[in-house]
Amino acid sequence: MTGEQQTVDATVPVEPDPDALLSVRGLRITVPSGAAAVEDVSFDVHPGETLGVVGESGCGKTLTMLSVMRLLPPGTAIADGSILLGGEDVARMPEKQLRRLRGSKVAMIYQDPMTSLNPLMRIGDQIAEGLRAHGWSRSDARDKAIEVLGEVGIPKPQRAARAFPHEFSGGMRQRAVIACALVLDPELLIADEPTTALDPTIQQQVIDLVVQLQRDRGMAVVWVTHDLGIIARLVSRMLVMYAGRVAEAGPTREVFRRPSHPYTSGLVGALPSPGGGREDLIQMPGAPPQPGQHPAGCPFRPRCPQAVERCATDLPPLLDRGREQGAACWVPPEDWSA
Ligand SMILES: Nc1ncnc2c1ncn2[C@@H]1O[C@H](COP(=O)(O)OP(=O)(O)OP(=O)(O)O)[C@@H](O)[C@H]1O
Ligand code: SF4
Ligand SMILES: [Mg+2]
Repeated sequence: MTGEQQTVDATVPVEPDPDALLSVRGLRITVPSGAAAVEDVSFDVHPGETLGVVGESGCGKTLTMLSVMRLLPPGTAIADGSILLGGEDVARMPEKQLRRLRGSKVAMIYQDPMTSLNPLMRIGDQIAEGLRAHGWSRSDARDKAIEVLGEVGIPKPQRAARAFPHEFSGGMRQRAVIACALVLDPELLIADEPTTALDPTIQQQVIDLVVQLQRDRGMAVVWVTHDLGIIARLVSRMLVMYAGRVAEAGPTREVFRRPSHPYTSGLVGALPSPGGGREDLIQMPGAPPQPGQHPAGCPFRPRCPQAVERCATDLPPLLDRGREQGAACWVPPEDWSA
């Protein structure tokens, strides 16, 4: 990379942050074609903190989060970078050690709640299974499963534990998924679009539940979402991803007040007034590039209203924009044309 004014974002130092619960550096994930779907992604999550991750479909949010669980789909792989969870590098960990961390250190609510429950297994047994894998006795695991079903607001938890997933409504199923994720009291919960399949009232209930559980347990939460309203209301810091890279990162308030990447500016500028319904990501003209088909220079250039000559040749790193904000853009907001 070229450029004298290059100062890599001060909020993401090159070395992993020893105080962070999760410290990801230079993450690169490849898909079966060998192309990178995630490239040079770095971020930190501190204990108890709430981080939001946004970006258009296909920008690499789910792959990034699955790599933290080391549960990437077949054919995709971590090709570079480190993923320090409580100081240990998940990217290089043997499977046996990973099983110890999953559930107890980090848990994830997956994008598709229907596939995360086994249709042939009673709800209580599914929750107890996680505990049994961590050495709990059968009866203690059963009692704990019932307790956590109550905690996530499922009525008559004793009876619910004996039910099969198809006997539950969508909202109740998602509560059961949350119970599975939280039964081992993880320090970090990754919520990957946990509400998109649900109707709006139920969505809000599930969000409220996670917020309440976070408050009760003091765990850190990463919200992956298309819903900028969730980001604005719930998260203190946010990461905006574009084409597998971090386009912008910073405190939510600053990013909304003064977006420093033209992509973020488009997203935030399109936020309808509060109370105007679901504040989804807007549809910007054009489409993001597929993995392996990125143009030279900045990946956002074909859609960017602010592009300058340099953008066609030089890939911008995450540059420090002050106020703990960083943006992967050569042109600072004060130089943008209206
Ligand atoms: N199993 C896979 N095999 C091949 N390519 C994949 C696989 N999973 C993801 N990809 C590709 O990697 C890129 C990132 O996918 P990812 O699922 O992380 O996106 P996302 O940001 O979570 O999108 P969405 O908002 O739709 O959930 C996409 O281009 C996708 O096509
Ligand atoms: S680097 Fe250039 S093309 Fe990329 S976002 Fe900034 S102005 Fe647009
Ligand atoms: Mg996804």
